[in-house]
Amino acid sequence: MKKLLENIDKKKFKVGIVGLGYVGLPLVNLFVKKRIEVIGVDTDTKKINKLKAGNSYISSKNLKNFKYFQNKKANLSNNYKVLEKADVIIICLPTPLKKFKPDMRYIFKCAKKLSSMNLENKVIILESTVFPGATNLFFKKVFSKKSLLLGKNIFLGYSPERENPGDPNFSYKVTPKVISGKTKNCLKILEKIYSNIITKLVKAKNIESAETSKLLENLYRSVNIGLVNEMKIICDKLSLDIFEIINLASTKNFGFQKFLPGPGLGGHCIPIDPYYLSWISKKHGYDPKFIRLSGIINQLMPRWVVNKLLSYFVKKPKVLILGVSYKKNVDDDRESPAFEIMKILRKKRVSFDYNDPYFSKIRKGRQIKFSKKSIKLTKEKINNYDAVLLVTDHDIYNYKFIYQSAKKIFDCRGVYKKFGYKEIVYC
Ligand SMILES: NC(=O)c1ccc[n+]([C@@H]2O[C@H](COP(=O)([O-])OP(=O)(O)OC[C@H]3O[C@@H](n4cnc5c(N)ncnc54)[C@H](O)[C@@H]3O)[C@@H](O)[C@H]2O)c1
Repeated sequence: MKKLLENIDKKKFKVGIVGLGYVGLPLVNLFVKKRIEVIGVDTDTKKINKLKAGNSYISSKNLKNFKYFQNKKANLSNNYKVLEKADVIIICLPTPLKKFKPDMRYIFKCAKKLSSMNLENKVIILESTVFPGATNLFFKKVFSKKSLLLGKNIFLGYSPERENPGDPNFSYKVTPKVISGKTKNCLKILEKIYSNIITKLVKAKNIESAETSKLLENLYRSVNIGLVNEMKIICDKLSLDIFEIINLASTKNFGFQKFLPGPGLGGHCIPIDPYYLSWISKKHGYDPKFIRLSGIINQLMPRWVVNKLLSYFVKKPKVLILGVSYKKNVDDDRESPAFEIMKILRKKRVSFDYNDPYFSKIRKGRQIKFSKKSIKLTKEKINNYDAVLLVTDHDIYNYKFIYQSAKKIFDCRGVYKKFGYKEIVYC
């Protein structure tokens, strides 16, 4: 352990990152910027080839000129064997849901691969969002055949990720990061490793607290978004302006945090993580209420939006959807409410097209059963539609031009509030 600590102090250690997605790749970048050698593993060979060619597939400002693996091709592979050179292995793998239950298959596959390696004197850290107790389960699978001593010649930790894709101001210079270790020594080592890239570290008492804190963070967002979405429905019934009401309430400088309503939840975290907590809670004999309720309200939103739009037309309108990313300024469409809206429109036989500068095409697959191409936003094209439905408020859109070209705008994000145009329908 002494040698490992010394090497970390001298920045003479190698970090292996498993899973180079929205979490893993920015993490690689953080270490690289501090001149710490990184080894990357991802099972997606398309991603590997892109990175080796010097292209990042994530359109984030920080990763624009990411060339690290172009210059260090041997440090990138779809084979876990490259990790043998690493002193620290950080796992950033997907943790989706299957029938509203945690789908741990990616994490457990990784555990199986690691279990066949020599892990002596290595540090293993999980960063994926998981249920309390999952990191321990993962470790048990890694070490089933091992005779290593935790905190002596093998070190284990959990540190939840707080990456905020699409947010140009997100930085670990201002955002603290929670760390936890299986033993005191493990925690000490995690502190040393992360202090290279994070300004403020917060130590959790144990791994389970750190795991649960991440779930609370995302549940907090889900519940509060559910609350403002329900407020939107109430305000609509009372002919009140939800955005004005939120702005008024948020002038209170204590006890109120502003959340905005929208067309429904998307992404890899907020629609999914609360169910990790409800699953484990139910296993322990308590069926949580808030998680279920906010889930119901948030899942209702795409249908509510479509019904609101259709209520303005006698004949079926031709609809142009703006934005398929689940949130603004990101090229990530996972669980996007835009797909739910499209499915509902299709079921109702309402014709629609879409535009998204981040997605020139949407392909038939897990999320939708059809393919479509993004249409160009010319004045004539926009005017061809009876309704423009603004689902994702990318900054790149020329909102004034869209307004001037459109017959009628339905705005799910409140973007047009600042323009003061009267005819916009907020939904
Ligand atoms: N995206 C976010 O904003 C965010 C924020 C905080 C936490 N998280 C959590 O972080 C974790 C990772 O999320 P993400 O958004 O980076 O996922 P992602 O899908 O963008 O990236 C995961 C990567 O892992 C690769 N992969 C899959 N199976 C593999 C395997 N067996 N071995 C090696 N590589 C494999 C995939 O090809 C992909 O590149 C999840 O638990 C998520 O909930 C995500």
